[in-house]
Amino acid sequence: MFDRSVLTDAIRIYLDAENDLLSKTFTDEHSYNHLIEVGCGYGRFMKWAGDRKYDYSGIDIVDWFVDLAQARIDSHQATDSQLNCHVYNLSAESIAEIAFEREAFDTISSKIVFFPFNCFGNTNSLSATIESLRDLGCDVLISTFKTDDSSSMIRKEYYGKCGYTNLVLSKHDNGALITSDEGLVSYAYELDFLQQLFRENGFEDPAVTDFASIGRAFHFKFKTRPRDVQPERRSFRRQNAIRSLKLMVFEDTSSDDSKSQLMPMHVMDSITKDFSLNSLRITVNKPFAAGNILKMDLSSEKSGKGKPIHLVGQITKIVVLNDGNFDLIIKLFNLSDDSRKQLRSFLNNLRTKS
Ligand SMILES: C[S@@+](CC[C@H](N)C(=O)[O-])C[C@H]1O[C@@H](n2cnc3c(N)ncnc32)[C@H](O)[C@@H]1O
Repeated sequence: MFDRSVLTDAIRIYLDAENDLLSKTFTDEHSYNHLIEVGCGYGRFMKWAGDRKYDYSGIDIVDWFVDLAQARIDSHQATDSQLNCHVYNLSAESIAEIAFEREAFDTISSKIVFFPFNCFGNTNSLSATIESLRDLGCDVLISTFKTDDSSSMIRKEYYGKCGYTNLVLSKHDNGALITSDEGLVSYAYELDFLQQLFRENGFEDPAVTDFASIGRAFHFKFKTRPRDVQPERRSFRRQNAIRSLKLMVFEDTSSDDSKSQLMPMHVMDSITKDFSLNSLRITVNKPFAAGNILKMDLSSEKSGKGKPIHLVGQITKIVVLNDGNFDLIIKLFNLSDDSRKQLRSFLNNLRTKS
């Protein structure tokens, strides 16, 4: 989040213009009605979305920003009960996990992920972010800066006002990079670089809009999914693809090993998952307690034979479904490199089939 007092005029104009950029993106030929803001801070675009009756989901890596944004949502909801806004403590690198948040994802809505204020150029891991975006399968709007010298100098001046020292601007094939002694690593990426990256991950080439002298926006549409197929439907198709899975769950209360029991589970429909492999969502026909530790042997063979993938995790959330089944959200522990590799190729396989 930024302190308005350190904004230079050019940056203030750029930030204000992001409102118009969003309005244009939502009103053009697109039918978006759900804004997902990455690096939402206090929820800068929450009110923008609420005023226009769009759904809003914000994510931020800093938990107290999320608390702050939640307090703002609560206060707005006190006067407008229709407001459908949610905020989550997630990173850009794990944005696909938002699909586990039923409040945010169960409504049939046409979503767009928005990276304001060059948040895309400041993520810690570009590869994790793009993978997670691919797994989420929504359109993406990136607000960043032009890479010419004059725009880069304006960025640099702003970072200086923020207190960063020894700022160094360097030009690379992939974009204009500004670093500082404090560890700032901020890219304004080149079109060619982003286009290639997104192309490789299932997106169409972007519409590019220059705005507010220094700003540049890239609007990527996700093309693997037909636009009329909603995420719910998409995950249903994934579920079909893994119906032949046999999953054995070992319940382990961890405090008393003797209570551990082998529990061959009938996986009703699904393993849906977060491709960044921090957690899994599994639909089962038996209830468990939140907090339970599970040891799982996943096998892709109907018979349960073949080399199983060993996973250990803890149930962080249970959702009772209308059909009497249960969704378990399981946070995975210490995935070994081997299991991670196996799981990734296993999930990639499902994705190809679905
Ligand atoms: C410059 S602020 C932008 C805040 C707000 N979206 C805006 O445009 O005013 C950057 C925000 O991104 C958050 N952030 C930084 N790295 C992040 C990451 N990898 N994933 C999610 N949020 C991140 C910070 O905590 C901060 O709230």
